[in-house]
Amino acid sequence: MNIPEKYQIKETIIQDTYLVNGELKKWTGQTSEVYSTISSTSTYQKTLLGTIPTLGETEALEALNSAVAAYDKGQGLWPTMKVVDRIACMEKFVEQMKTKREEVVKLLMWEIGKNLADSEKEFDRTVEYIYDTIEDYTQMDRDSAKFEKHDGVNAHIRRGPLGVVLCLGPYNYPLNETFALLIPAIIMGNTTIFKPAKFGVLLLSPLLEAFQNSFPKGVVNIIYGRGRTVASPIMKDGRVDVLALIGNSKSANALQSVHPKSNRLRMVLGLEAKNPAIVLKDADLDLAISECIAGTTSFNGQRCTALKVLYVHSAIIEEFNKRFSEKVDALKFGNPWEEGAKLTPLPEPDKPAYIQELIDDALEKGAKIINTKGGETTENYIFPAVLYPVSKDMRVYKEEQFGPVIPVISFSDIEQPLDDMAESNYGQQVSLFGKDIKTLAPLIDTLVNLVCRVNLNSSCQRGPDVYPFTGRKDSAVATLSVHDALRSFSIRTFVASKDNEYNNAILTELLQSRASNFVSTDYIL
Ligand code: G3H
Repeated sequence: MNIPEKYQIKETIIQDTYLVNGELKKWTGQTSEVYSTISSTSTYQKTLLGTIPTLGETEALEALNSAVAAYDKGQGLWPTMKVVDRIACMEKFVEQMKTKREEVVKLLMWEIGKNLADSEKEFDRTVEYIYDTIEDYTQMDRDSAKFEKHDGVNAHIRRGPLGVVLCLGPYNYPLNETFALLIPAIIMGNTTIFKPAKFGVLLLSPLLEAFQNSFPKGVVNIIYGRGRTVASPIMKDGRVDVLALIGNSKSANALQSVHPKSNRLRMVLGLEAKNPAIVLKDADLDLAISECIAGTTSFNGQRCTALKVLYVHSAIIEEFNKRFSEKVDALKFGNPWEEGAKLTPLPEPDKPAYIQELIDDALEKGAKIINTKGGETTENYIFPAVLYPVSKDMRVYKEEQFGPVIPVISFSDIEQPLDDMAESNYGQQVSLFGKDIKTLAPLIDTLVNLVCRVNLNSSCQRGPDVYPFTGRKDSAVATLSVHDALRSFSIRTFVASKDNEYNNAILTELLQSRASNFVSTDYIL
């Protein structure tokens, strides 16, 4: 195997600690091996990357106790700390994180098969997200450095933390999406327990010490193990205030349902989607095709925002299918560090077989694979099959494939995709390709009520991260963006007092003495 020196796995990572109560605690119990589906040898075999602790219920509850103790009924050092001091901790963290870029990027490639450019982008985008969060929170603090007076009541209103947050991220963005939950949760003064996803676990090892030394003990707890074994007992206990999860609605529902106090539990969820592209007959085909290629195949379709079904107008379907299929076949498959590799190994060993099931089901029900390489399988990959014509009784229409297979449907009446979207359990985004504003205007007016982002002549995506990222129905709960996430992980809370001499003298003294970290009109410059 021709693997460049700097990307070779020379030694395995033995992750034998977990972060609890400010301590990187040694684990001597059961461990799980972490494999990459990428081979390091000329005859295929998966590569052993390292081991991680297989923690149990006891350690899960230890982490929960640690987070609860750090919150300390609202009296903890972290939730009562001055905003400017919490920001300083986050700055310390991100400075250290930046020094780990190379290690994290390399592990992103091996653990989840993301190509070099996208792995670098994931790291850089996360660092940028942290800086943007700091900036936004600073501005939020500036905006609340004041009193309001209405109807004879003075009020000092800020956003305060919610309590203990359980954070679970997805394997497709094990760094970015996880941190998009964790960072705002932490900075707002919550205390957290974080469990990495099923893949993309070892890439957090280089960051553990930074977490440990940047925040007070118990603010960030990091545990390893299976969701059922560690996340369920934490939820069952009832002391979690926020479930922050990006992943599947089944896991979210299961975790939510075991929490005994449903009103206490807030949820910040980014779930599955089946974003469609609608290609109208006057669409610029070159543009539509290249955007649909990016939308369906980038990171092998393993993105919640991926285009997972293409609706193409019957007047242009033949031309679209021909050119689109050729472009799919021209995509290069290779290991993540290979120049120009757009398609890369799938991290889930059973994914090719699942995708094959979807293909078989579709073929049985009347679809065809219209590209030459579609369905070609190797040990760790199945080449994207473009399936046409796809109908609603096929699994590939109903299920979120989250992988390399592309269903195409032709339509002549625009009501068809609109009805399908209205009927669907998902409602994240849509891509709309066309030019004539007389057609586009009423469509846009409808589509914005079915999903939460209409991408005009471009594929769906989450970024830029300052824009609201959310969804309807089973696709999301709450909104994430640099700004919205800070809101999602906090609540407005305030001090109010009747406007009289007695109270005003106390307020003045509170402000002048700087004795309270909450009642403060200090302006962060
Ligand atoms: O998996 C879903 C991600 O939020 C998608 O983000 O559109 O930047 O790939 P992206």
